[in-house]
Amino acid sequence: MGKKVYTEKELEQYYDGMKKQHLGPLWYDLGHMVTKEPVHDVEPYLWKWKDIREYALTAGEILEPGKDAERRVVYLQNPSLLERGLVGYGTHTLYAGIQLLLPGEFAPAHQHSQTAIRFIIEGEGAYTAVNGQKVYMERGDLVLTPAWTWHEHKHEGTEPVFWLDGLDVGLVKTMAASFFKPYEDKFYPLKPEENYSNEAFANGSFKKLNETVEPGYPSPIFGYKFDRVEYLLNHMKEEEQDPYDGHAVEYTNPTTGKSADSRVGTMMQKLTPNQHTQAHRHVHSAIYHVLEGEGYTVIDGQKFEWEKGDFFILPPWSYHEHVNTGDTDAFLFSFNDKPVMEKLELEFSEALNENNGYQKVTSTFLPESLNV
Ligand SMILES: [Fe+2]
Ligand SMILES: [Fe+2]
Repeated sequence: MGKKVYTEKELEQYYDGMKKQHLGPLWYDLGHMVTKEPVHDVEPYLWKWKDIREYALTAGEILEPGKDAERRVVYLQNPSLLERGLVGYGTHTLYAGIQLLLPGEFAPAHQHSQTAIRFIIEGEGAYTAVNGQKVYMERGDLVLTPAWTWHEHKHEGTEPVFWLDGLDVGLVKTMAASFFKPYEDKFYPLKPEENYSNEAFANGSFKKLNETVEPGYPSPIFGYKFDRVEYLLNHMKEEEQDPYDGHAVEYTNPTTGKSADSRVGTMMQKLTPNQHTQAHRHVHSAIYHVLEGEGYTVIDGQKFEWEKGDFFILPPWSYHEHVNTGDTDAFLFSFNDKPVMEKLELEFSEALNENNGYQKVTSTFLPESLNV
């Protein structure tokens, strides 16, 4: 039996009526809702370190943390996401800010449901205390302040210290799960020195005979030193390299063997002079920081030239490959939302199959400060 024939006018009334009742016809909209591949509006972008540093230093003259502000941070705003009113977004899930602490300053204790990682860019003598455990920060180190932990920063050194704050701001906002609480005092009570996580884990992994270590989060390690990462990367065999990331290590939680932080993944990669990795793409997005070296990354055909200190955005589901153009090793630190995608069984990746696995470069990105 055939379907009833509706006149054009009847159909129009039908669809208009449905819309007014806030209902929709899936037979028209399925393709927008369940797309064949990830669809997103996260554009790649790149910031020059000298610009960020300058703005952060000027903030040092304008305000003082613990007095005028909770933290003194200049954040990276992805312009493509600001168009949607998403303030403070680097990618749809990740936030990156550059925090400056001057000698003698502190940033008071607080906790939040966003998980955070710190990567130290410049300076020494400052520490982060995580639930009262002091972790000193030096250039190249990673420090975790997992979701819900009490954390504060204090600078005992003599020069300005800059670090990257990486948080899953966008993810937590999408999940409508943001909580924030300042501690009742400026500082959370510090634990005695012998309990410091670095002491127990810096050169191995140990436990007392009467101690039980349950696998899980947060990681018993809060501070990951750069010299250890550098050693591993410098002693990596040819066959241990990754075709898409070169010499690369992920920071892990020793009790689980998985990502150091439960929701934000962290990675350091080394590219030797002239090394050119192959292109691939994946569901997870990332924010990169150039610790050392110079080169470029091609993202969906666009060339992003970087040097020491720069930051760039890798959107989800975008082909990318990295090239070291300098005559020394390049070190790229990055953080990502891979652990979340994996937990939700949404992670998927694929290599570029055409052109021997390399993209055709169609344009070069011009950083804003050179865009005159
Ligand atoms: Fe915080
Ligand atoms: Fe990748």
